[in-house]
Amino acid sequence: MTDASSAPAVPVTIHRGDYRPPEWQIPDIALDFALGIKETRVTAALSAVRAADAPAPLLLRGDGLTPAEVRVDGAVWNDWRMDGSDLVVDLGDRTAATVEVDTLIHPATNTQLMGLYASNGMLCTQCEAEGFRRITFHPDRPDVLSRYRVRLAGDRARFPILLSNGNCIASGEGEDGTHWALWEDPWPKPSYLFALVAGDLVVNRDSFTTMSGRKVDLGIWVRDGDLDRTHHAMAALKHSMKWDEEVYGREYDLDRFNIVAVSDFNMGAMENKGLNIFNTRYILADPDTATDMDYDGVEGVVAHEYFHNWSGNRVTCRDWFQLSLKEGFTVYRDQSFSAAMGSPAVKRIEDVRVLRAAQFPEDAGPLAHPIRPDSYQEISNFYTATVYNKGAEVIRMMATLLGPERFRRGTDLYFDRHDGEAATCEDFIRAMEEGGGIDLTQFRRWYEQAGTPKLHLTLAQEGGEWFLDIVQTVPPTPGQPAKAPMMMPLRLAAFAMDGGGAALPDTLVTLTGAAQRVPLGAFAARPALSVNRGFSAPVIVDYERAPGELAWLAAHDDDPFARYEALQQLMLDTLVAAVSGEAGNRDAVIGAVARTLAGAADDPAFVAEAVLLPSEAFIGDQMVTVDPDAIRSARMALQGAIGDALEGQWRAILGNPAPAATDLSPAAKGRRRLRGVALAYLAATGKEDVAALAFGIFSSADGMTERQAALATLAHGDSDERAHALDIFYQRYRDDPLVLDKWFQVQAWSLRSDTVAAVAALAQHPDFTLANPNRVRSLYGAFAANQAAFHQADGAGYRLLADLVIALDPKNPQTAARMIPPLGRWKRFDVARQALMKTELERILAQPGLSRDTTEQASKSLM
Ligand code: PHE
Ligand code: ZN
Repeated sequence: MTDASSAPAVPVTIHRGDYRPPEWQIPDIALDFALGIKETRVTAALSAVRAADAPAPLLLRGDGLTPAEVRVDGAVWNDWRMDGSDLVVDLGDRTAATVEVDTLIHPATNTQLMGLYASNGMLCTQCEAEGFRRITFHPDRPDVLSRYRVRLAGDRARFPILLSNGNCIASGEGEDGTHWALWEDPWPKPSYLFALVAGDLVVNRDSFTTMSGRKVDLGIWVRDGDLDRTHHAMAALKHSMKWDEEVYGREYDLDRFNIVAVSDFNMGAMENKGLNIFNTRYILADPDTATDMDYDGVEGVVAHEYFHNWSGNRVTCRDWFQLSLKEGFTVYRDQSFSAAMGSPAVKRIEDVRVLRAAQFPEDAGPLAHPIRPDSYQEISNFYTATVYNKGAEVIRMMATLLGPERFRRGTDLYFDRHDGEAATCEDFIRAMEEGGGIDLTQFRRWYEQAGTPKLHLTLAQEGGEWFLDIVQTVPPTPGQPAKAPMMMPLRLAAFAMDGGGAALPDTLVTLTGAAQRVPLGAFAARPALSVNRGFSAPVIVDYERAPGELAWLAAHDDDPFARYEALQQLMLDTLVAAVSGEAGNRDAVIGAVARTLAGAADDPAFVAEAVLLPSEAFIGDQMVTVDPDAIRSARMALQGAIGDALEGQWRAILGNPAPAATDLSPAAKGRRRLRGVALAYLAATGKEDVAALAFGIFSSADGMTERQAALATLAHGDSDERAHALDIFYQRYRDDPLVLDKWFQVQAWSLRSDTVAAVAALAQHPDFTLANPNRVRSLYGAFAANQAAFHQADGAGYRLLADLVIALDPKNPQTAARMIPPLGRWKRFDVARQALMKTELERILAQPGLSRDTTEQASKSLM
C-alpha cells in the first residue's frame, strides 16, 4: 500500500514567512504499541495544553491514518473531523485536555521507509522530517516538544529486543508468548526524534565515563553475525563523546546511548534521542568488507549523529526552514572531528571535493536555494548539499572570522541560551554576534542568497607596491535575479618566486564590498598569489595564472590545501584547453605531478589526493557547454600521458608491499590510497601487463581497499581478468549486501563505452531490487555520476534513469525524487541533449499519481 495517491493534485507551497507558533503544546505523550509486522496497533495519549489565547481546534497531522476511536479525558469524543488526511479535534473552550487516539498501521507494506516499517524481519522507525504522522496523529512540527513514555509489546520470539528513546524503566511478560518494555525519555523532544526498534538483535556493549564522572552504557545493535563489524563504530562513538566535551564542552545527558543498524534506510543515519538508527553502511566495517573510505564514512557519520545530541536535539529547529541550523552546524562539527582524528589537510581536500561535486552544481541549477530556504512543497527534498555542506561552510566562515576562542564563546552562548528550545538560524547568528563580539549584519546574506559567489582577481602594481583587486559577483538563481555582495573571510599570502625578497605571510582579509583592493606589499616582480587558502570561503576564484606560477605554488606554497589547489588548477587549465582542441601545458602538469610524487613517502595520503585528475564533471563545470565525450577523451589522454611519463614511479609505488589491511593508521591508509591512484595511472597507459597486475592485486589483497581498487580498475577495461574478477567477487560476497553494492557500483562507474547497456542489464539482475535504497544508489546513483555514460548522445542514459524514477516513485518517493537532479542539469548541455533530458522530465511528470516529492523536483527541474 502506498500513499502516493494521497498527495494533492495541485502542490501546496509552504512559505517561511507564514510561520505561526503552535496553538497547542503537548508537554506529555504516552504511546502504547501492540507490535506486529503486518499490523501494529497504536494508542497515543496526548496531554494537550492550549498556547493560543483564544479557543482553537487541535490540529493533528496524519498521513495514511484512520482514527479508530478518539477519546478526550477518558470519554469517547465525537467532536472531530478529518481535514484531508489530518484530524481536527474540537475541544471547545478548553485550555487543557488529554486526547487519546487509536490507530492501526501496517509496517510490512510501508515501502516508503517513513514512519514504522519492517526491515529484514525487524521493526524500526524513521520520523524526520514528517514521518511521525504516519504512526499516529500529532501536530508533528518541531516546535512542539514533549516528554515521551512508550510501552512496546509484542511476540517475544519475533521481537526479543524492544528499544525506544531514553531509559527502560520496566519490562515484563505478557500473554501468549508476548513481552513488553516501558521506556521513558526525560528530555522533552520534537516528534521527529521519536524512535522504536523491535527485533532479534545482538549488541556490542561498552561504556563511556563523561567529564562529570557519569557512566554511560553504550550499545550498538545489529543482526546476528555482524557483531565483529561494530568495533570501529564503537571506537568512533567514544572518540566523539570525548571530543565534544573537549572542544565544545558538551556532555552526554542520558544513562544510555543506543545505535541500531538497519539495512533498508533512505539516508545515512538518524539522530533519534538516545536511539540513533543507522544505515548498516555507516556502522558495519571490517578490513575484509570495508574500504578505508568506508571506515572514514563510519567514523564521520557516527560522530555526526552523536553531535546532533546537542546541535539538533537539546537545541532543535523551530521549523523545517531552519534545517541548516542543525545540519550545517553538525556537518561542520563532524568535519572538524574527522580532521582531528586524521589529516586536517586531506580532510579539507575531501570536503571541498564533495562541495564542488554536489553543492556547486546544485547552486548553479534550477533547484538552487539558500541554506535557509524560503519555500518548499516537500521538505524531504531539502536535505541537500546546500543545506548540509554549504551550511557547514557558512558556519566555518563564522568560526574563521571569530577565531577559535570567540567562536567557542558564541557556541557556549547559543547552547546555554537555547537549551531545551526550538531555535532559528537567526538565534545562532545572534549568539555568534554577542558571544564573539562581531557585527554579522551583512553576513546574514549567506542565509538569504543562493548561488556560488565568484571572485574575479587581478594584480595591480604602483611603484613597486603590489595590490590585489577583487570584484565579487553572485549569480542570479531562481527567484533571485539580483544579488548583493557577501561578507566573507579570504585567507591569502603572496610569495616571491625567485626565493629571495618579500613575502606576504598568511593574512585574513574580510571581504564586504563588490570591489575591494588588498595591498600585498613590495615585490621586485609579480608575486605568486596564494588565495582562498584552506578554502576559507565557498566561492569560485577566477584568476588567470601562468603554468609556471601554478607549478611553483604546487611545489612551494606553505598551505597544503593551496598546494593541492594549484596543481588541480594546472591540470584543469590543461584539460579545458584539450577539450577545445588546444595543446594546453602537458609538460608542466607532468613535471608538477613528478615533483609532488617525490614527497610520497612523507605524506602519501596528501600526495594521492593532489595527483588525482579533476573529475569529468568538474571539468564540465568550467565550460560554457559541457561536452561529455570530449571531456572523457581529454581526461583519459592526460591520464595516459602522465601514466607513461611517470611509469617508473607508478610501478615503484606498486612494487612495495601493501600495508596490512588491519593497519588503519593514517599512514597505511595513505599508502593504500596512493597505490590505487598509481594503478589507475598505469591502467591508463594501456600497457599489456596491467590487467594481470591488477588481477594479481585483486587476488592477493588481504582487504577491501586494495581489492576494490583493483576491481574498479579492471572494470574499466576489456580483459579476461575483468570478467574473472567480477565473477570471483560476486561468488564470494553475494550474501553480503553492502559488499554486493560495490559489485554493482564498480560496473556502473565503468569508463567502458557499453556502460549504459550494462547498467540496464544489471537492473534485471536477480540481486537488484528497488526495495533497498542502498542497492538503488549503488547502481543508479553511481551511473548518474558517470558523466559520459549518463549523457550518452542517444539519450539512453536519461531514459534509464527516468524509467527508474517512474518505477520507484510509487514505492519510495523520497529516494526516487533524489535521482532527479542529474536530469535537471540540462541547461549545461547542447541542444540535442537538452531536448532529450527535458523529454524524460516531462515523461516523469506525466505519470498519474506522482508523489509530491517527485513532482516538485521534476517540475522545478524543467524551469
Ligand atoms: N537528520 C539526519 C542526519 O543528517 C538525516 C536524515 C534526514 C535521516 C531525514 C533520515 C531522514 O543526520
Ligand atoms: Zn544531520
